[in-house]
Amino acid sequence: MNVLIVGSGGREHALAWRLARSPSRPKVFVAPGNAGTAREHELENVALSDPATLADFAEDKRVQLTVVGPEAPLAGGIVNLFRARGLRIFGPTREAAQLESSKDFAKRFMARHQIPTARFATFADRAAAHAHVDEHGAPIVIKADGLAAGKGVVVAMDLATAHAALDRILPPTLDAPEAGAPARVVIEEYLEGEEASFIVMVDGKNVLALASSQDHKRISDGDRGPNTGGMGAYSPAPVVTPEVHARTMREIILPTVRGMAAEGIPYTGFLYAGLMIAPDGSVKTVEFNCRLGDPETQPIMMRLKSDLLELLEHAVNGRLDRIEANWDRRVALGVVLAAANYPDAPRLGDEISGLPKSSEDSHVFHAGTRESEGRIVTAGGRVLCVTTLGDNIRLAQKRAYSLIDEIRFAGMQYRRDIGHRALGR
Ligand code: AMP
Ligand code: GLY
Repeated sequence: MNVLIVGSGGREHALAWRLARSPSRPKVFVAPGNAGTAREHELENVALSDPATLADFAEDKRVQLTVVGPEAPLAGGIVNLFRARGLRIFGPTREAAQLESSKDFAKRFMARHQIPTARFATFADRAAAHAHVDEHGAPIVIKADGLAAGKGVVVAMDLATAHAALDRILPPTLDAPEAGAPARVVIEEYLEGEEASFIVMVDGKNVLALASSQDHKRISDGDRGPNTGGMGAYSPAPVVTPEVHARTMREIILPTVRGMAAEGIPYTGFLYAGLMIAPDGSVKTVEFNCRLGDPETQPIMMRLKSDLLELLEHAVNGRLDRIEANWDRRVALGVVLAAANYPDAPRLGDEISGLPKSSEDSHVFHAGTRESEGRIVTAGGRVLCVTTLGDNIRLAQKRAYSLIDEIRFAGMQYRRDIGHRALGR
């Protein structure tokens, strides 16, 4: 069986690596992949990323299943295109992907279906947005409407920060709108609590929950500094107790899947709910993503014991009610190694050395890497994710950081405290 993974990050490396270990030993192509997927002998990179060309490739190579990693091709309609050509693909349609691609769509959808989330208002008009901020006061949250890779969100602890964020997002005058769609801003109530990532597989109707996880969004230790795509993650998330899990399924996930189906936009694909869990155990949706998390996928795939291909087959066949997923009881933890100057303007082309061999309880997943004359060099902001298993979070941490000690590239940055929220729980 031939399978195609679309994307080039650590998430796609982890998915492809796990898929290649399915008992039926599928042939796994990764488009375009990275130096890590190039070096795995079971995987094959294909230098393609345009959706129509990918569909041609899937036809030529008789690819029986395609799985899409990143949000951009999903929001661009790759699933619509593949399905129109009779190709099997796991992911949401362009319409369903609006749960991530339009914050305004997601917030209105949640309001229609009584799905718990922060109170919000949407503005295209500057003066009205500033007035709303003055009326509600700080802390308050300002979000650009549209895909912004986590960078379009400002959690403003004071009014000056909130007003400055509005000035940045909304065009200076309505008489001279910038090219493209008019900018819109979503202003939200500030939520207090602990965040977790709750990721499920959806077949349009049935839901299979994956193991819980948590990531670390800020660049620096102690959750300080600018937001990033994620500097590390671990699974399970102790904050997702059985009660929180049940409540999330009942109040967020199932109403979302039923609501999308009822509105004629059935959701298929991975669905990621970013949760805010309050001290009293109530759960609110911070955001939806229409895909797996990165780096959450890396520890989740380390822990998955079930046959991933079989899970995906059930998902595309609308049979997720007939299968369960089994997880390694150990903790998995991934530490991201980022390039110099990430997240602003990462420097590229630094040579990487000291990459360890993988073992039963560790694997280095690549993200921004490429091969250049037999060497591996940095080629993106997040470069590697060193992922380990351990009997507890401390042991998984110890293993990850001792592997990192061997890895070198100029300007390498990483957090020393991945997993800190899970310690002491
Ligand atoms: P988002 O892109 O919507 O996930 O937001 C990025 C990050 O901003 C989240 O992971 C939270 O840490 C933070 N955030 C977003 N919305 C809120 C909110 N309403 N209250 C508190 N923090 C938030
Ligand atoms: N790690 C957060 C995300 O994938 O959006």
